[in-house]
Amino acid sequence: MNAFLLIVLRLVHVASGILWGGAAVFLLFFVKPSVKAIGAAGPQFMQSLVERRRAPLFMLGASVLTVVSGGILYWFSSGGFNAAWIASGPGIGFTIGSAAALIGFLFGAFGIGPTSAQMGALGAQIAASGKGPTPEQAARMEALEKRLNIAERVDFIMLALAILMMATARYWTF
Ligand code: HEM
Repeated sequence: MNAFLLIVLRLVHVASGILWGGAAVFLLFFVKPSVKAIGAAGPQFMQSLVERRRAPLFMLGASVLTVVSGGILYWFSSGGFNAAWIASGPGIGFTIGSAAALIGFLFGAFGIGPTSAQMGALGAQIAASGKGPTPEQAARMEALEKRLNIAERVDFIMLALAILMMATARYWTF
């Protein structure tokens, strides 16, 4: 493969992977607990983060770039899915890392994204009513929060596994 194209692909892959993984950790371990801690101002902060700063679009863009550039790199590194490469040390490492990143991507794009959007819409509905949530709204919010927590945990574990594999697979010669 053309060396210049490979360098560009690796740059895109590593940079978008850093942005995706770093942002996921920052949101989960710093933004989320802080939003909970500030109480009434929390939903307002989240609305600004999501609607004005378009955080979900950033996450989707970074993850799509990582997965697409990673897929192309995988195709070239494996010589077009060559079985001998896939069974080699680096092949096994990059394959496990790629599968983990793909699962993380699916949970992020189809779990975290839509669930957060539904929570935001329900929160706005409750705020617009001017009263507290009805029992049905409170139960729905709790169910959505549970689903979000599971998706976030799976996403984090998969991303951590992908980072571990991507960072070390090249040297799996044992
Ligand atoms: C479906 C998703 C992914 C696929 C298919 C994939 C595939 C690959 C492949 C095949 C390589 C080797 C490229 C080469 O040797 O030229 C690579 C390298 C790398 N990937 Fe991924 N990757 C994915 C996700 C990620 C994620 C989520 C991260 C970080 C958060 C990441 C970080 C890296 C890094 C740092 C390297 C360079 C490793 C080295 O040079 O030894 N990748 N990736």
